[in-house]
Amino acid sequence: MSERKSTNITWHHGKVSREDRVNLLKQKGVTLWFTGLSGSGKSTIACELEHALLENGHHSYVLDGDNIRHGLNKDLGFSPQDRTENIRRISEVARLFCDANTITLTAFISPYREDRDSARKIHKEGEFLEIYVKCPLDVCEERDTKGLYKKARAGEIKEFTGISAPYEEPLTPEITLDTSALSLEECVRTILAYLENNGYIRFS
Ligand code: ADX
Repeated sequence: MSERKSTNITWHHGKVSREDRVNLLKQKGVTLWFTGLSGSGKSTIACELEHALLENGHHSYVLDGDNIRHGLNKDLGFSPQDRTENIRRISEVARLFCDANTITLTAFISPYREDRDSARKIHKEGEFLEIYVKCPLDVCEERDTKGLYKKARAGEIKEFTGISAPYEEPLTPEITLDTSALSLEECVRTILAYLENNGYIRFS
C-alpha cells in the first residue's frame, strides 16, 4: 500500500529552520508514541498530559487511534495489513507535526514491533520516544470501557487485539508505565519528568 506512485517530484525547502521554531515555542518537538492494548490507558494519559503541558505554556497535540479512524484512516480496518498502513500514515503525520515543533502524542495500539520501529526510523535521532502503556489483558478486559472485549469474547468482533489478534510488547521503550499499579497523575508526572530531564521542555 505504501508503494511509490508519484514521480518527478522535488523537495522544496522553506525559510524557517527547526531552530527558529524551537526558539519561538521554547520547546523541542518530539513524538511520544504511546503503545498498548485497548483500554490500557493510552488516550487517557495522552489527553491528561496534553492538558498538563498546556497549563505550563507548552504546545502539544494528541493523535488518537479511534479519532483518526473517523477521518484520515476511515478506509482502514483491523487486518494486519490495514493496521500497518494505519501506523505508517500516522507516523508520517506525527513526523510532520514533530517537524513543526509540536510535542506530538500518538495513542494507537500499534501492535506490531516492526511498524513501531518503522515509525521511529522516519524520525530524527531523539525525536521519537516509545511509551509502553503496560497493563495486563485481564485488567483491560475487566475495565472494558468501550464494551469491546465482551463483544470480542462473544465472537462479534474479529481480530481483536489481545483476544484474537497479537500484541507484540516493546523491547526497549524509553518509558514504561504500568497502569495497573500507577495512578494517572503518576503516569503524567513520569513523562513530564522525562521531557524536562532530557531538555524537551522547561517545566515550571
Ligand atoms: S491499531 O492496532 O491499528 O493501532 P488503533 O489504535 O488505530 O489500532 O485503533 C484501536 C481502537 O479501535 C480500539 O481502542 C478500539 O476502540 C477499536 N477497535 C475496533 N475493532 C478493533 C479490533 N479488532 N482490535 C482492536 N481495536 C479495535
